[in-house]
Amino acid sequence: DWTMRAFKDEAIARIRAQVGKERVICGLSGGVDSAVAAVLLHEAIGDQLTCVFVDHGLLRAGEAKKVVALFRHAYNIPLVLVEAEALFLKELAGVTDPEVKRKTIGKLFIDVFEAEAKKVGGASFLAQGTLYPDVIESVSFTGGPSVTIKSHHNVGGLPERMNMKLVEPLRELFKDEVRALGRELGLPEVFVGRHPFPGPGLAIRCPGEITKDKLDILRLADEIFIEEIRRAGLYDEIWQAFAVLLPVRTVGVMGDGRTYDNVVALRAVTSVDGMTADFYAFDMKFLAHAATRIINEVKGVNRVVYDVTSKPPGTIEWE
Ligand code: XMP
Repeated sequence: DWTMRAFKDEAIARIRAQVGKERVICGLSGGVDSAVAAVLLHEAIGDQLTCVFVDHGLLRAGEAKKVVALFRHAYNIPLVLVEAEALFLKELAGVTDPEVKRKTIGKLFIDVFEAEAKKVGGASFLAQGTLYPDVIESVSFTGGPSVTIKSHHNVGGLPERMNMKLVEPLRELFKDEVRALGRELGLPEVFVGRHPFPGPGLAIRCPGEITKDKLDILRLADEIFIEEIRRAGLYDEIWQAFAVLLPVRTVGVMGDGRTYDNVVALRAVTSVDGMTADFYAFDMKFLAHAATRIINEVKGVNRVVYDVTSKPPGTIEWE
């Protein structure tokens, strides 16, 4: 793709001019954007770059392994894996407000990145895969006055005071352009085609208080849903699909006993850039099958509902 090749060369030149001889830390989220940013930075500044992947305990099933395999093994890009589940879950305990969740997570991310920056002898830059829609949505909402809908920074609401300067080489791009750039950089198709995943991870798919038990339930339900979507050959038609664990218990019946368990909501949308979205109109048979599997295989869930809200008026994530 000619446009992307030109963009790539220009972006590389810009990164070099901005960074000079200094060291850069790049936070990976497991999503496409940060992966593309990292590979681009690596082409631009080679071993001045250290990639950091924080396992904050809010990841999907198998995520950390996949990211480590891609960067360390397929790319040979040095990657530091920080195990920070205990830290994040401790700080998030009792937090229920969505914006407080984002800000808490953003602050912890920066603490971790700053600690890693020191370890590599002082990195003065933090790189992120922020896209154009992230920039717009953190500031205002289409057509409306300047109201923050969500603190959408990639890591989910960066603190105001931070010792590192930001490098955001994808700030002007939309998702489809980032994917094209990823292909241009030789990222494997399975990775380029992955659904977006937010920096704050499963924290914003678990309305109410976050606990390890809830996250484990959510991870399993989510994995089953995505597996069924892939099996049905629908993955690439869908912009994003995931499960949400609701802070509600409902009564059910299983065998000849009463159950009083959690509700899982399934969400799937089509979109071009994430700024607007339509709910995905699954075949009812597909939904019934996914729901049955989730209820049978995930202990603690006895009801599954499907979200038929588009954006607007809903947002894609529930928080
Ligand atoms: P919403 O929920 O605002 O999401 O309709 C639009 C897109 O942005 C993703 N998203 C985030 N990504 N940090 C991120 O990196 C965040 O805090 C965040 N919040 C939402 C969401 O997954 C969707 O793709």
